[in-house]
Amino acid sequence: MKPRMVKVSAPGKVILSGEHAVVYSYPALVAAVNKRLSITRIGNKKEIDSDIPIGCGMGSSAAFAVASSALNIKLKGERWDLEKINQEAYKREKKQHGNPSGGDNTISTYGGFLWYRKEAESLKTFSQIHSKRKLSNLFAINTGRPNESTKEMVSYVAGLYRKRKSKIDSILKDIGEVTKAFLRYLLAEENLSLEALIKGNESLLENLGVVSKSTIQLIREIEKIGGAAKVSGAGGKKDKSGILLAYHQDPDRLVMLAKDMNLDIFPIRLGEGGVRVEK
Ligand code: MEV
Repeated sequence: MKPRMVKVSAPGKVILSGEHAVVYSYPALVAAVNKRLSITRIGNKKEIDSDIPIGCGMGSSAAFAVASSALNIKLKGERWDLEKINQEAYKREKKQHGNPSGGDNTISTYGGFLWYRKEAESLKTFSQIHSKRKLSNLFAINTGRPNESTKEMVSYVAGLYRKRKSKIDSILKDIGEVTKAFLRYLLAEENLSLEALIKGNESLLENLGVVSKSTIQLIREIEKIGGAAKVSGAGGKKDKSGILLAYHQDPDRLVMLAKDMNLDIFPIRLGEGGVRVEK
């Protein structure tokens, strides 16, 4: 008899706006991307496959947590229940990251675009957003895996918050305002430019101190050729800062710049499906 095979997959994510601020109860706008992690179980063997860059802010660890929880549910023969998968994944994320907002596992579970908020440990709210904008010409540029883990970056910001509460809280609050503007843009309630929103968010992340010098230089180069880019995820301050979400209305120029600098660049589609069983 052939051993039973179960395969589940979960997507990576980008944060359009709101990283770090979301840990302090400000909103975040997150989107699932067309990069996935899958776990296949055949008999006693487990196989993991992934095209999500690891440890670069694209949600590889959350996708692993979500896929693992989903696999458990399937193997136990329980009902497919997204809320339960998400809760289990959040517990796994907490073990790894200490104080996650829960945004990464939630977007990987549900997919699409989400408006996410952690009001309190036991009240996390989110809404599916149906984007009225096409959001084309978006790329991920990998600046490389940061020295610092997400956990370290989150506790770095927590340290700053303790020392200089009013300054840091005002940056986080401004990030919240950009996130709200981004939402109105997606819903076509306001005519804003995608470049300005990305630049606005990036500049606040730089003020917060989660973007390294070399990444700031790279982003200035992207802006010089008419594009915009931001760190997406926890960032990194010593050397590399993980994935950048980048936009240019003439994508060839962005691709050329990244290639000239020997950086990995790939187009991304936003709003992809959440966790699922694969045939
Ligand atoms: C990490 O992808 C995003 C952070 O806001 C941490 C979190 O939300 O848990 C930096």
